[in-house]
Amino acid sequence: MNFRLLRLIMLFGEIFAITPRRNKVKKIRTKIYSICVITALMVASTISVLYYRQPLYVNFSPIKLVLTISMVLIVNIFNCYTVLAPVYFKRRQYCFLIRMLEQNDNVTLDDLCEKIPFYAGFVAPNVIYWGITVYVSYVWTDILGFEYYEQYFVEVIQLYFQFYYSYFLCMFVKVFVGKYKYVNFLLSEQILYMQMRRPTTLERFPISMRRIENLVCFLKEMNVAFNDVFGWPIILIILYSSILLLNYLDDIFKNSFGYSKNQYVGVIISNISVVFLANIGTIALILLCDLVLDEAKTTTLLAYKLRQYALLVEKQEISDFITLMSDNFPQFTAAGFFSVNKTTILNIMGTVTTFFIIIIQFNTSRVLYCDKYGV
Ligand SMILES: *[C@@H]1O[C@H](CO)[C@@H](O)[C@H](O)[C@H]1NC(C)=O
Ligand SMILES: *[C@@H]1O[C@H](CO)[C@@H](O)[C@H](O)[C@H]1NC(C)=O
Ligand SMILES: *[C@@H]1O[C@H](CO)[C@@H](O)[C@H](O)[C@H]1NC(C)=O
Repeated sequence: MNFRLLRLIMLFGEIFAITPRRNKVKKIRTKIYSICVITALMVASTISVLYYRQPLYVNFSPIKLVLTISMVLIVNIFNCYTVLAPVYFKRRQYCFLIRMLEQNDNVTLDDLCEKIPFYAGFVAPNVIYWGITVYVSYVWTDILGFEYYEQYFVEVIQLYFQFYYSYFLCMFVKVFVGKYKYVNFLLSEQILYMQMRRPTTLERFPISMRRIENLVCFLKEMNVAFNDVFGWPIILIILYSSILLLNYLDDIFKNSFGYSKNQYVGVIISNISVVFLANIGTIALILLCDLVLDEAKTTTLLAYKLRQYALLVEKQEISDFITLMSDNFPQFTAAGFFSVNKTTILNIMGTVTTFFIIIIQFNTSRVLYCDKYGV
């Protein structure tokens, strides 16, 4: 786990007002700054939707209109929440989380002699995002000219916020993965000691067990705070990327804007890239959450293994630990609506497919109508 990377991500996030520093959260200046950022985004988004994009919306079918409007709404709610929550209504929990991170913020020897410098983890996603974005705007500028920027510039910025935030969340969840790996490492070490049975084993055992128990409780506490602060952003990210997927699938398969063949290929590639950008972070986040659950399952297994080698006096302590572990099993929830694990990906895919079929069927009747009357 790399804390220097996380710190760098949070430093830049401060500019977008999404990850303010703990000691600055209470300051008036931070509050005013976050209000300014959110006002600027809202005003720009409202202008681009109501003024520049409205002529487009008139031609949309009702379903497409609903999809587009809900995307705009979700992304705006997402921005409001992520910017305002740390400074206003989730301040205590947010500070708690960041303090916990800082407390464990030890640059280990591993970090110092890593082969890839830590800022590569920061630069690479940004290069990918802006590289793809430049390509997409190139394609669209060719078709729409300057209008593209009037209509979609704000959306590019908002998508970047969402992309950046999911990346931040991924790195945060990676901290959980690392911590559970550390717990597993300590337990495996215990198993090794037990197997060798030195005279000191019996003395050292309660101390190490206490340490492991503390770590597990600490992790659960952090997990609860994490769900509290980031639950809504997670569900909004999942909703947004699924609706975007649906909306763009519709565009890709239908060519509903009637582009020429040459433009169409560019449009398809750029649409697929945008879908990729919006979904890669979401999928990575879900998989990382699942990885934490996997590590925690390994912890339980290791504890059972440890009990096999334990003496009678130690067995009770380990049984207690197993109970503690199952009571404090980590869980990532999307604002309490559903728990996030690998099954979530399949559920999203199922839902998107179902809706996509519905949309296609709605459009077919329209096409028949158009053909018949030559409209
Ligand atoms: C990290 O360092 C702090 C002191 O700065 C220490 O209390 C803590 O135990 C260390 N954590 C780990 C995991 O080494
Ligand atoms: C689908 O609906 C849109 C909007 O009403 C229309 O322009 C398009 O021609 C329809 N048909 C197909 C096959 O996309
Ligand atoms: C995964 O999440 C679903 C609900 O979203 C839940 O029913 C299921 O028990 C979870 N699976 C695991 C292994 O946690």
